[in-house]
Amino acid sequence: MSDSRECRVAVFSTQKYDRIFLTQAATDSNVQFHFLEPRLEPDTVVLAQGATAICAFVNDRLDAEVLQALKESGIDLVALRCAGFNNVDLKAAEDLGVRVARVPAYSPNAVAEHAVALVMTLNRKTHRAFNRVREGNFLLDGLMGFDINGRTVGVVGTGRIGRVFGRILQGFGCRVVAFDPYPDPEVEEMGIEYLPWEAFLSQSDIISLHCPLTPETHAMIDATAVGLMKPGAMLINTSRGAIIDTHAVIDGLKSGRIGSLGLDVYEQEENLFFKDLSEEVIQDDVFQRLQTFPNVLITGHQGFLTRQAMEEIARTTVDNLRCLSNDERCFNRLV
Ligand code: NAI
Repeated sequence: MSDSRECRVAVFSTQKYDRIFLTQAATDSNVQFHFLEPRLEPDTVVLAQGATAICAFVNDRLDAEVLQALKESGIDLVALRCAGFNNVDLKAAEDLGVRVARVPAYSPNAVAEHAVALVMTLNRKTHRAFNRVREGNFLLDGLMGFDINGRTVGVVGTGRIGRVFGRILQGFGCRVVAFDPYPDPEVEEMGIEYLPWEAFLSQSDIISLHCPLTPETHAMIDATAVGLMKPGAMLINTSRGAIIDTHAVIDGLKSGRIGSLGLDVYEQEENLFFKDLSEEVIQDDVFQRLQTFPNVLITGHQGFLTRQAMEEIARTTVDNLRCLSNDERCFNRLV
């Protein structure tokens, strides 16, 4: 194992926690991080000049234009510090000879447990109770929930995260059903039953999305799907925003077909999330409409944010950079 080739990495979309965990993981390695706060897009790609690689996150733009600009700056190595890669034009990367690696698995528990947090908060309204009690209002009106025990919980995508979510809900005493075009016998052995899409939608009291964003899953929760859902069902999305058609879901909330909605991701999140916009007028009317519902809970893409997940993300990212910069085999390489 040679650490000889220095790997200078421009890190885009840096947050305080990225700096801490990546710096720690790169100790005694050939990887040197240069931390940048801006998001990677055509206007900011110039900031990477002088680097040999870049490190990007979920909302950094890695389309053909950006990849071409990186290549022209002599950068042919991209390390994603996330699992999803829907923001990368892999075909363009391949054509340009830009190598891309990701962190396929870190802590599935982190995201699954956050999805459970959304379920529990929406159901028992602890966020509202917290505010009321602080203001000395001890009335319980409007705080009624339902027993999770005995409900049917539907998991879309029984991969690493979906199956952990299913197992946790089984622990609550739920019947867990799933929809996935690639059923896994191991998941069936856990007692999770795969159902066809229509039956899945109509039987689930709680639906949680854990599939990747692909052309097939884009807007898979559309008006038709909402119409098939059990009246009053809870919908949770910790996967990628564009898996749901937000307009259809807003209509579903207005009609009561959707009883509550928990989001950790949003289709246009790159304009909002990971920034302090508390002094600004938010221009996204769809997002603002979502915020008006008392039965909608939104978190800003924090499913991954546990110490254990951050350590694993940083360790794997440094390892990917080390392997690729030394022309060693990298198991997490996408192209
Ligand atoms: P995975 O690759 O282990 O599992 C994905 C599952 O989705 C697979 O079982 C696959 O067969 C299934 N799937 C594929 N196409 C489908 C379709 N059309 N309908 C239903 N299921 C389908 O992925 P993993 O690690 O479980 O992550 C899932 C997603 O969670 C990621 O793609 C990412 O978008 C999201 N994520 C969100 C995070 C957050 O912080 N909120 C952090 C990490 C991941």
